[in-house]
Amino acid sequence: MSYPYQINSIEEYKEAYKKSIEQPDAFWASIAEHFTWKKKWDKVVEWNFKEPKVEWFKGAKLNITENCIDRHLDTLGDKPALIWEPNNPEERVRVVTYNRLHKRVCQVAQMLKNNGVKKGDRVCIYMGMVPELVYAILGCARIGAIHSVIFGGFSAQSIADRVTDAHAEFIITCDGAYRGEKVIPLKSVIDDALINNTTVKRIIVFTRTRTPVSMLKGRDVWWEDEMEHAEQQVEINGKINFEPAIMDAEDPLFILYTSGSTGKPKGVVHTIAGYMIFVTYSFVNVFNYQQGQIHFCTADIGWVTGHSYIAYGPLCAGATSVMFEGIPTFPDAGRFWDIVDKHQVNILYTAPTAIRSLMGFGTQPLEGKNLSSLKVLGSVGEPINEEAWHWYDEHIGKKRCPIVDTWWQTETAGILISNLAGITPSKPSWATLPLPGVQPILVDENGNEVLPNGNETIAGNLCIKAPWPGIIRTTYGDHERCRTNYFATYDNLYFSGDGALKDENGNYRITGRVDDVLNISGHRIGTAEVENAINMHAGVVESAVVGYPHNIKGQGIYAYVILGQKHSDEELTKKDILQTVTRIIGAIAKPDKIQFVTGLPKTRSGKIMRRILRKIAEGETENLGDTTALLDPNIVNEIKEGRV
Ligand code: WT7
Repeated sequence: MSYPYQINSIEEYKEAYKKSIEQPDAFWASIAEHFTWKKKWDKVVEWNFKEPKVEWFKGAKLNITENCIDRHLDTLGDKPALIWEPNNPEERVRVVTYNRLHKRVCQVAQMLKNNGVKKGDRVCIYMGMVPELVYAILGCARIGAIHSVIFGGFSAQSIADRVTDAHAEFIITCDGAYRGEKVIPLKSVIDDALINNTTVKRIIVFTRTRTPVSMLKGRDVWWEDEMEHAEQQVEINGKINFEPAIMDAEDPLFILYTSGSTGKPKGVVHTIAGYMIFVTYSFVNVFNYQQGQIHFCTADIGWVTGHSYIAYGPLCAGATSVMFEGIPTFPDAGRFWDIVDKHQVNILYTAPTAIRSLMGFGTQPLEGKNLSSLKVLGSVGEPINEEAWHWYDEHIGKKRCPIVDTWWQTETAGILISNLAGITPSKPSWATLPLPGVQPILVDENGNEVLPNGNETIAGNLCIKAPWPGIIRTTYGDHERCRTNYFATYDNLYFSGDGALKDENGNYRITGRVDDVLNISGHRIGTAEVENAINMHAGVVESAVVGYPHNIKGQGIYAYVILGQKHSDEELTKKDILQTVTRIIGAIAKPDKIQFVTGLPKTRSGKIMRRILRKIAEGETENLGDTTALLDPNIVNEIKEGRV
């Protein structure tokens, strides 16, 4: 069965696109009609990119959890909402029906209320990939609290920064998380994060790994105890309910921290109604989702992909979403294919870095795995190279599954540029066409639109001309930062930070970041952030970090480091620096290569010429461009010779 707003042919795509541009209000209203509202909107959209101010469905009242859960109960109550696949395949799979999800979310809402959480409060969530994480975010949404999920790989320091920035008084965590053969002691990381904290009032701890934890009297409570207590409260005369808070369309739904070109991650804020409409619409149309299909997005809910395409999008569409706790290579490199086979997965959505790493194991892990249930494949997080695209097409999709290459960002909430599975054509390594409601434009450094000469392919900085319902509303606690980051580079445009090509048919190919942001295995990290972390090490005077092409990760991190004094054991010093970065940010930000240098190529005004460092890191030592502006051109030779 399909959805009323489903695009079924290329003609329908063109028609929808045209309507979305000519009559955006009527277009989005006709989609929003199919959702559950306590009160409909007064105005579909109001915006200016100057402040910026963007408001969708203003005046409307709703609760997103009614849309994710309650409205499906009559028809889908006994159908699986989540299929949870544990880290260890020998452990029992958990199938969570919509009825069960309803009960658990009501319980969590009650539990949060019992613990003093109120509408508008910020709740930090630092959990592994367990169904309770989905109950936790939806429980927050049910009472109108704002969740801020922090990826389980971030360090105590990163958590502390995020808790402080969001002024969060509540945390939900686990004792530990399984990741392949490792156990990550989440609660103990939280304890480290809160050593000097006086504002967190309550930590709720879910038991997953039975890792020993220290529970502070008066602050820390067990999820299991609290949920048991709440269970009795949400059941009245045999009926389970927790009345959802009535929220405004533009109330914040969540904060998600992401890296930019400055040292400090920013809290991207998304609001309820626009987010809901956009992720559901894009989910249904990009993957051409048909009711009853099994959707498997391999992301972690710590990133936006998991928020939008494991939790909110699929659940709003009444889909069945597979949630995977482990990693692609544990217990072996056939893990994804086992899951596809076991649960008869129809849609597989993963990242190029995962595909490249699995390619390295050859086709042996695919033997005996039945992948015939697959209908659609998706790619997200970074440009997919042609080799990986073809491997995915040939060995996973067996050349009968369309591949959607989906371009979007934390700030966009959902997919902006992608082919629509089976509807619009794919082009290897091209994200292709914008979704209805999305108006991309390529501009040069001065903000002038780049226009083609005849049929040529053009290149420029990728901007969007008008708001779609999922656009970032603000950066938490600092609206000016949102303006300068995204809306001030070019007048009246949202600037993505990416460069792109556009061919004569209007297809887009994303070429990568044009700012100082790295994309490591599909994860965003700012060079300044890594430099700050390296500079925290006692022996370091200064550092400069750049990205370089990496076979598996897409980009690797190359750090040039100046030490205060020559260390006798350079290898040990490198390890110490890696340890420092792991402590300050998390293992994901560890440099792949560290080169000790005595100076950095700087201009007379003291600016580091990263262009030169990037070229050397890439292995280019001949054409370094003009180096005459450098204060000390000799340093370049030293750096070239010491390349690691
Ligand atoms: C950055 C956003 C998209 C959700 C997960 C990452 C890069 C993302 C693609 C793609 C080429 C892509 C961009 C973008 N990116 N998807 N299909 N092709 N590049 O979200 O952490 O906010 O990162 O990822 O550079 O700006 P994020």
